[in-house]
Amino acid sequence: MTEPPAPAARVRNLTKTYGTGQALVRALDDVTLDIAAGEFTAVMGPSGSGKSTLMHCCAALDTADSGSVFIGDQDLTQLKDKGLTRLRRDEIGFVFQSFNLVPTLTAEENIQLPMAIAGRKADQAWYDTVVATVGLGDRLEHKPNELSGGQQQRVAVARALASRPRIVFADEPTGNLDSRSGAEVLELLRRSVDEYGQTVVMVTHDPVAAAYTDRVVFLADGRVVDELRAPTREQVLEVMNRMAEQTP
Ligand SMILES: Nc1ncnc2c1ncn2[C@@H]1O[C@H](COP(=O)(O)OP(=O)(O)O)[C@@H](O)[C@H]1O
Ligand SMILES: [Mg+2]
Repeated sequence: MTEPPAPAARVRNLTKTYGTGQALVRALDDVTLDIAAGEFTAVMGPSGSGKSTLMHCCAALDTADSGSVFIGDQDLTQLKDKGLTRLRRDEIGFVFQSFNLVPTLTAEENIQLPMAIAGRKADQAWYDTVVATVGLGDRLEHKPNELSGGQQQRVAVARALASRPRIVFADEPTGNLDSRSGAEVLELLRRSVDEYGQTVVMVTHDPVAAAYTDRVVFLADGRVVDELRAPTREQVLEVMNRMAEQTP
């Protein structure tokens, strides 16, 4: 018997609050969750349910009040600055809704930037694979403002994939895109999982986007309240409607 692969990330009893007294908000309320390696996971939930807070705490971009987050077997809540910097650089990729490309650099330079900052060279074969998968062709020499939104976000995904991180987090990566550009980005993320075994966690509001994934985790009020495997758009809509009915 072979053991199932260890999860890429494990969240344990993660809690984070903002404010105090009457203004206290429990952004994350005792969240426990495993992210399987080599899976494409979606995180859904109403606005304000804690999705971004969860992504940021998992990607070491923010800290929680209590609980732990393991990336591989490293508990990032126990790491000091140096360890966190290394973890962010080597193990984590992040894709933002707003692309966050450097406007003065070409697409190719943007993809290479994190590695350049780290003083490392991408594995050439992997880099070529990523660039080919992104499908930008000769537009690699273009600056972000010469690219469509979908192309810019594909550059941002390539930048996140280039260092071959253990896990990629994407916070509403298609939120600023029309449905066709969004589909290009979703197909790229899907291929990175299917063809290269990448682990991807994506926040989305869109049942169509969620249907690209292997699993949907639903948050409400900072808690995990439901989950679907091999989700269809219709199943996702059904859970969303049920959740909306339960909201007072
Ligand atoms: N910096 C902050 N200061 C105060 N409250 C915050 C801050 N960031 C998020 N929150 C609150 O925490 C809750 C969860 O926010 P967030 O994680 O951004 O939700 P989502 O991404 O699901 O919309 C919300 O109630 C939000 O208002
Ligand atoms: Mg958010």
